[in-house]
Amino acid sequence: MNTELVKQVHWVGYVDWPVRDFHGYQTKRGSSYNAYLVQGAEKVALIDTVKAPYADYLKQNVAAHCPLSKIDYLVCNHAEPDHSGSFPAMVAACPQAEVVCNAKCKDALSRHYDTSGWKFRVVKEGETLDLGGRTLQFFDTVMCHWPESMVTYLVEEELLFSMDIFGQHYATYCRFDDEANMAEVMQEAKTYYANIVLLYAKPVAAAAKKLLGLKLKMVAPSHGVIWRSHFQEILNAYLAWHVSKPTKKVIVFYSTMWQSTRQMAEAVVRGANEFDVQVKLFDLKAVGDTELITELMDCAAFACGTPTLNQSLMPRMAAALTYIRGLKPAGKKAFSFGSFGWASKGAEEAQEYLKAFGCELLCAPITCKFAPDAATLEQCVEAGRALGRAAAAIEA
Ligand code: FEO
Repeated sequence: MNTELVKQVHWVGYVDWPVRDFHGYQTKRGSSYNAYLVQGAEKVALIDTVKAPYADYLKQNVAAHCPLSKIDYLVCNHAEPDHSGSFPAMVAACPQAEVVCNAKCKDALSRHYDTSGWKFRVVKEGETLDLGGRTLQFFDTVMCHWPESMVTYLVEEELLFSMDIFGQHYATYCRFDDEANMAEVMQEAKTYYANIVLLYAKPVAAAAKKLLGLKLKMVAPSHGVIWRSHFQEILNAYLAWHVSKPTKKVIVFYSTMWQSTRQMAEAVVRGANEFDVQVKLFDLKAVGDTELITELMDCAAFACGTPTLNQSLMPRMAAALTYIRGLKPAGKKAFSFGSFGWASKGAEEAQEYLKAFGCELLCAPITCKFAPDAATLEQCVEAGRALGRAAAAIEA
């Protein structure tokens, strides 16, 4: 594996092939926790660490380039444990090292770990650290992805350690974008954006605007591949995803008990398919929330169907809508539908979720008692046409 970014700057992280859950995010292609070793003429800095169980791999990777006792600085860009988890082990293994972070990160680290014996060097926005012919510069990136987040810039090499920004949960031994399968990389970058970044789209856009004032030859995130040949692609993608930019796409997803709501979903899809747009149909038994929000992020319009179960919506639909509501995809047109037995509650409750994340509602919930009759199905087809029409109106 080629781990050299530039001379005396190496990737020393850990590739986590089997991980499939990242606090609820289904990481179907695994992940990596990227740490970087920067060696100057006089000082050596480690940028971030890895999840705690993999500290020994990090130590081995560092030791291949430099004895741990020679590390002067342990830079913490972000206190989330996927990057800070090995700090206790590294502080213990690097007795002369100072932990370099901003004030909020110092506080966050102290709430995760016993930091009483740690030597901190607290840095402010724009502050620099001289490694001897090499300069690290620090920039706060508040809420990208936590309040204490910052990034580190290696000035002479025009190399940005961008932390979570531009990352992908993607396990590969190809460390660079031009070595990897770019279709997979971009799919995982999109999934990462939809599931991690979407709620923080505005602060990330503000941070990106600030950071784009820097000269950038290479951008090294904390997960996935390093951008050295295709940075413009990921940047353009971020600009599109930032506003949940709608495309000519309609999503219909549903839960069903005895196929009535599924029949309604199929009728909605028939209406949407009368237009020259992409239409996708998901049974929530067959799709996870991670994939669903990724599909939803760039759709123009969607509908969700749920029967009424125990005077409420189906639990699986409630889980999906709760997840989507938290990430707040913007600018979508939508409606809900579903069957009921003796009192209709499910579709109505689903519609409340749609209101909560700011959807423009295309119609009142479409409901039917037990199985849908022809009139109900025609109502679903007509509502599906409204979805298709909304998507068709999007400029390509
Ligand atoms: Fe990859 Fe917000 O941690």
